[in-house]
Amino acid sequence: MKFRDLGLSKDLLQAVEKAGFTEATPIQADTIPLILEGHDVLGQAQTGTGKTAAFSLPILDKIDLDDPNVQALVVSPTRELAIQTQREMNRFGRVEGAKVQAVYGGADIRQQIRNLKKHPQVVVGTPGRILDHINRRTLKLSNVKFLVLDEADDMLDMGFLDDIESIIKALPTERQTLLFSATMPDKIKRVGVQFMNQPKQIKIKAKELTTDLVDQFYVRSKEAEKFDLMTRFFDVQAPKVTIVFCRTKRRVDEVSRGLIACGYPAAGLHGDLTQKRRSQIMREFRDGKISILVATDVAARGIDVSGVTHVYNYDIPQDPESYVHRIGRTGRAGKHGVSLTFVEPNERDYLREVEKLTKVRMLPLKPPSEAEALNGQLSVVKNELGNLIEKTDMDKFSETADELLEKYSAKELVSVLLSKMTRNQVKVRITPERPLPNKKRRFNRGGRGGGRRFGGRGRNGGGNRRYNGHGRGGNHRNNDRGHGRGNGGNHRSNGGNKSFTIKQKD
Ligand SMILES: Nc1ncnc2c1ncn2[C@@H]1O[C@H](COP(=O)(O)OP(=O)(O)O)[C@@H](O)[C@H]1O
Ligand SMILES: [Mg+2]
Repeated sequence: MKFRDLGLSKDLLQAVEKAGFTEATPIQADTIPLILEGHDVLGQAQTGTGKTAAFSLPILDKIDLDDPNVQALVVSPTRELAIQTQREMNRFGRVEGAKVQAVYGGADIRQQIRNLKKHPQVVVGTPGRILDHINRRTLKLSNVKFLVLDEADDMLDMGFLDDIESIIKALPTERQTLLFSATMPDKIKRVGVQFMNQPKQIKIKAKELTTDLVDQFYVRSKEAEKFDLMTRFFDVQAPKVTIVFCRTKRRVDEVSRGLIACGYPAAGLHGDLTQKRRSQIMREFRDGKISILVATDVAARGIDVSGVTHVYNYDIPQDPESYVHRIGRTGRAGKHGVSLTFVEPNERDYLREVEKLTKVRMLPLKPPSEAEALNGQLSVVKNELGNLIEKTDMDKFSETADELLEKYSAKELVSVLLSKMTRNQVKVRITPERPLPNKKRRFNRGGRGGGRRFGGRGRNGGGNRRYNGHGRGGNHRNNDRGHGRGNGGNHRSNGGNKSFTIKQKD
């Protein structure tokens, strides 16, 4: 669905275009018109589906820029989210000149008070700090026309219900209330009934489970080891068409640059790239020039590439439904796929949530050792050498070859060749990301507990397996796909150990 069909004003359409959005996501397509019509809305869609823009755009469209009062209040569960929402709303609101102010705990309240005096039309904040400002009378809400309860399930899980009730008491009853959430337990629906006016409920179904054709593995690893281990898996699994999922844009940048430095034909895809660049990357991925696409969930949305052989979850998704979405990229059209998920020690509960949803146990894999990884590469190289020998015009090099053989032993020459044909030993350091919140404390959702329902395959059934096959369809640095060692040579110009720290580009 195109944004221009949703009834938004010209200014906002321009802002949306500037942000690089082309298609509205389903939750946006369904809720924006309802909000513009003045309805209260209960919107449910999984994480990463663009719920922020779903409420931001129509609100920005409807606020009165000549009115100096706060007209919209967005309540967010965390300070990070409040900041992120402020940023997103500013990005859209700039064209028409709307002001958005964030208020959250742990930051200087006097600065916030000064900012609130500058007449923002929209305030985004965490419940505690909003109440604080209400009590200090530094935030006047008597002209609020829109209340947004964002990520409502998280807010309830974090025990903010009382605070939210107190905030709502400070608001006019004549207002539009919008509630967005990834899940919709009864507790939230009750909030809806209590504080909303005949809300329209929109639920976007998560993608169906299509996991039968995907062999799902997981690997226990520490945050700092993941990059190294992933490349070793690349070397032994020799994935052909691969998507690597990362949790953040920074991760995508760093992991893709690290892979390129190691000599893999990789590219990163995320929302900060221009539309033009994104299309170019997708084209190259489809053509096989790039065989490893590193992406965020959102950037990968709508990507439809046939023949994805491997999905690597560099970061386990926070939301189990995203997992299904991710691995659904492979194992399509009757073809077989492999998925591999890195699980950090504190993320076991997330793994369980995923297994609960898919009703499949993932099998543990033991990471290949460095020597095994090298062997994996060498066995590919050995195959390739046969092809190369067939293709090469021997006469052309005959004289020089003889010369070199006089000077060096055949073994020396072949070793140099093998070193050139295997990948760079580059030390890549990836900036650690904040770990996922501890599930036990935060996620206390009723009715979700219960016993396990999976069948036969016990977690430790076969012990740890080692993945040895690299049979599945050739190698990711295959010459035929236009990205041979020849072209890639510049990445690997020096076989020695280099240190390579990936810096974030801002
Ligand atoms: N229509 C769209 N096209 C492309 N990217 C989008 C679109 N809508 C939102 N995004 C981007 O998707 C990311 C996640 O959106 P967000 O609103 O945080 O998701 P949610 O709240 O559903 O978890 C953001 O980076 C946002 O800029
Ligand atoms: Mg959100």
